[in-house]
Amino acid sequence: MANDSPNVAIITDDPGWHGQQLKQSLLKRGYQSCFVRLQECHFDLNADRAEIQLPGFDSLPAGVFVRGVPGGSLEQVVYYLDILHGLEHLSVPVFNNTRALERSVDKGMTSFLLKSNNIPTPNSIFSSNLHHINYKLREALDQHKKLVIKPIFGSQGKGVQLIENRSQYIDFDEMHGVMYLQEFIDAGENVGVDYRVFVIGDEVISCMKRAGESWITNVAQGGKVEAVELGETTQQLALEAVRVTGLEYSGVDLIRDKQGKFWVTEVNSVPAWRGLQQTTSLNLSEIIVDKFLDHCHLALNHDQRH
Ligand SMILES: Nc1ncnc2c1ncn2[C@@H]1O[C@H](COP(=O)(O)OP(=O)(O)O)[C@@H](O)[C@H]1O
Ligand SMILES: [Mg+2]
Repeated sequence: MANDSPNVAIITDDPGWHGQQLKQSLLKRGYQSCFVRLQECHFDLNADRAEIQLPGFDSLPAGVFVRGVPGGSLEQVVYYLDILHGLEHLSVPVFNNTRALERSVDKGMTSFLLKSNNIPTPNSIFSSNLHHINYKLREALDQHKKLVIKPIFGSQGKGVQLIENRSQYIDFDEMHGVMYLQEFIDAGENVGVDYRVFVIGDEVISCMKRAGESWITNVAQGGKVEAVELGETTQQLALEAVRVTGLEYSGVDLIRDKQGKFWVTEVNSVPAWRGLQQTTSLNLSEIIVDKFLDHCHLALNHDQRH
């Protein structure tokens, strides 16, 4: 039964629709939640034992749902991850778990994990050495390959750029000293179409097809969504991609090339589900919250008021 003090922290700078959905679903199950900015969390290292203080909480929460990790300087980002690691150290479950968040928030590391587990993902260049990047880039372009530059912490299709020839301007500073380029997957006449597979635990919950106004399909960039049935092999591919990253839930992006082969282009550790919700009668937020509560070993206390 819900009492007045919050027991779940939802980490976000911008609660919006997703925050409200989570709050409602948690309340329906008897849990009060509070939105928390990592910038307002503190280590308290003045007592006998180490503590972490979260705004709005008198004691540690029963669980932490991560809806976003803010950017910032290296020190700030490390600090935010320190808070999440610290909470886990103090036995507070964090969802997705911090180690998996850390690994898959970075597109280059995700590529590494996928490749090293033989999951079909586009060939990529990932380096902080400008000479190496230029050499690999020229080599690929000379072989008539196209490449997609992506900010390693990017989301919603922001900052992705298609590189097709040597004369194109690339703003290296914009990438903060680390470059990540993926080979462009040619979907033939279906260019601008990709697939999103929403995975919770070891189950595919829902799939959608996205069609972009250009080759970029993100809903945030005007992509249109529709429900789609994907074959067993493709679903297994998405499940395997999530398994190797260690995420509890995720949205996997897949592109089908013109020969019909599926490639994993991205594994999202903080996936949005607003677009997907338009394509399914399932209540995604409730399914996610059930998995969250399970991860936190919290009972489903269905609130009598609902
Ligand atoms: N290798 C690729 N080949 C073709 N299109 C791609 C490739 N990678 C990404 N895209 C397109 O760019 C979009 C954004 O890339 P993605 O890696 O998913 O980053 P974001 O985190 O911004 O969603 C994808 O939704 C897809 O439409
Ligand atoms: Mg994506």
